[in-house]
Amino acid sequence: MSDNTTLGNAAPEIILPEVEINLFTPKKPTTATIAENYICTDNSSPNVIRHITIDLSGTGLEGVFRSGQSIGILPPGENEKGKPHKLRLYSVSSPSKGEQGQAHLVSTTVKRANEEVDGVFYTGVCSNYLSNLKPGDSLQITGPSGKRYLLPENVEEFNFVFFATGTGVAPFRGMIMELIEAGHKGQIVLVFGCPYRTDLLYKEYFEGLDAMHLNVHYLTMISREDRRENGAKKYVQTAIEDYSELLSPILGANNTLVYLCGMKGMQTGIYEQLAKQGFLDYLSLRGDLADKDPMEWTWEELKTQVKPSERTFEEVY
Ligand code: FAD
Ligand code: A2P
Repeated sequence: MSDNTTLGNAAPEIILPEVEINLFTPKKPTTATIAENYICTDNSSPNVIRHITIDLSGTGLEGVFRSGQSIGILPPGENEKGKPHKLRLYSVSSPSKGEQGQAHLVSTTVKRANEEVDGVFYTGVCSNYLSNLKPGDSLQITGPSGKRYLLPENVEEFNFVFFATGTGVAPFRGMIMELIEAGHKGQIVLVFGCPYRTDLLYKEYFEGLDAMHLNVHYLTMISREDRRENGAKKYVQTAIEDYSELLSPILGANNTLVYLCGMKGMQTGIYEQLAKQGFLDYLSLRGDLADKDPMEWTWEELKTQVKPSERTFEEVY
């Protein structure tokens, strides 16, 4: 739904909360229990992605994870060199108060990382281990991990534009739940990219918010089904141009923060589009790039000389 009446003029200070990190580490993990585990894409999607809730009761981690942080999972067993499998990180997808407001429950959103390379089918160790766990099963966890990828304490002073590809939506589910619960008045935009319509994650929840709240906007960029006017694929970054009527005033306000999460590499395209549309405040430029016209920046320059500014929060993997 559309309502651009709450855009601010002043640039507020970004006050990040102090958070706990690394209370448990790979050398000293804690044991938690699976509370629920269900598919959160359309059932017909070949990209099996699951919403997994972990019960932290008795672990010392109750109420500690904040949205934006990650949980470490230690899969059992050894790799081909006979060494214990390494820790993998998974973003918290519940709000800081806990899944369904319960401090002992933390959720994440896990995609089975399976792929065929040169005719050989490989299965990801930890994502499949986690996806196969059933309620009541125990697992070794660590964390919390991450101290900057967070909502600011003074959320009410900002608009938020969240760019997610695939499971990159995980932190934004929790963050948006928190913003909604706080009765956030500023603009909240979620731009979500996935290959097919069946891969939309938490679709009903986000569609419901968009329908119910004038300041919440849910934009889906379905790369292999939708096409831009010029026939090209729709990606999260193309939304900056494709939905410029909505996004330009929001991105142009100096109290807007941009968050992006998902596949490694997505940041370059977002930075390119932000630069081309004149939203340079979200970028920190290295070398002599500031002297060049953004329309002429090369891909190599975008990759190596553009970093997030303090108004941009990035988590790619
Ligand atoms: P691995 O066993 O590590 O394998 C990785 C990939 O390589 C797999 O696709 C596998 O099929 C393939 N492969 C295995 N062997 C070979 C081979 N010999 N040749 C070629 N390919 C091979 N993931 C999520 O799903 N949700 C999240 O919320 C999430 N959040 C993250 C947050 C952070 C901060 C980071 C850093 C990562 C996050 N990840 C998330 C990614 C996650 O940590 C894992 O990297 C991912 O699940 C893959 O781990 P795996 O053990 O299943 O796969
Ligand atoms: P595509 O694969 O059609 O090129 P998932 O994690 O579920 O696979 O979704 C990732 C989504 O991000 C897909 O729609 C994918 O499109 C899209 N994508 C691929 N490359 C980029 C990129 N460089 N920037 C943004 N989105 C991308």
